[in-house]
Amino acid sequence: MTREEKAEALKVLTEQELPVVMQASDLYKTAIQAVPGDGNPDADIVIIGEAPGKKENELGKPFVGASGKLLNDLLGSIGLKREDIFIANVIKHRPPDNRDPLPAEIAAYSPWLQGQLDIIDPSIVITLGRFSMDFMLGKGFSISEIHGQPKRKNGRIIVPLYHPAAAMYSGNLRPILYADFAKIPKIIELIKKEG
Ligand code: URA
Repeated sequence: MTREEKAEALKVLTEQELPVVMQASDLYKTAIQAVPGDGNPDADIVIIGEAPGKKENELGKPFVGASGKLLNDLLGSIGLKREDIFIANVIKHRPPDNRDPLPAEIAAYSPWLQGQLDIIDPSIVITLGRFSMDFMLGKGFSISEIHGQPKRKNGRIIVPLYHPAAAMYSGNLRPILYADFAKIPKIIELIKKEG
């Protein structure tokens, strides 16, 4: 698919999945709007967070609040811009009071995220936090054990990282997150070599 075709397919996917998640979960009732995702529909790197927060709920775009600022800085530290990548979340409506998503909510929103990955077809998926890590790798991993360690799965490289919000609350995770991000250019090089 061309970039334009992917952009159109993502739009169609949103139109299809929005009524499905609204049927299966009540999250939309307390949210202002859905936050489907944003960025380059033909990106080689997709970043997946957890769920929209307050600012994202207001603006309809992912990672535009405080964790977004840190994410922009992390991307800048390895020479990437938001326009180079696509950013999405496991959950597309803000959970009330930013509570953790429930298993039934994750199940309801998962086909939407899977559809986005099928369309964009990135070679690298960076997961931020445990919910997107579980989505990509399955349950059973501990983020404190595998953060920064790329894993191959279904033809893609998955890079599990701490969530920027965790690094904001716990100062000692910050340098770890920067160090893990610093590994990404090498992973991109490797993928390019493999063609
Ligand atoms: N945290 C997330 O996981 N996603 C966002 O879009 C914003 C904050």
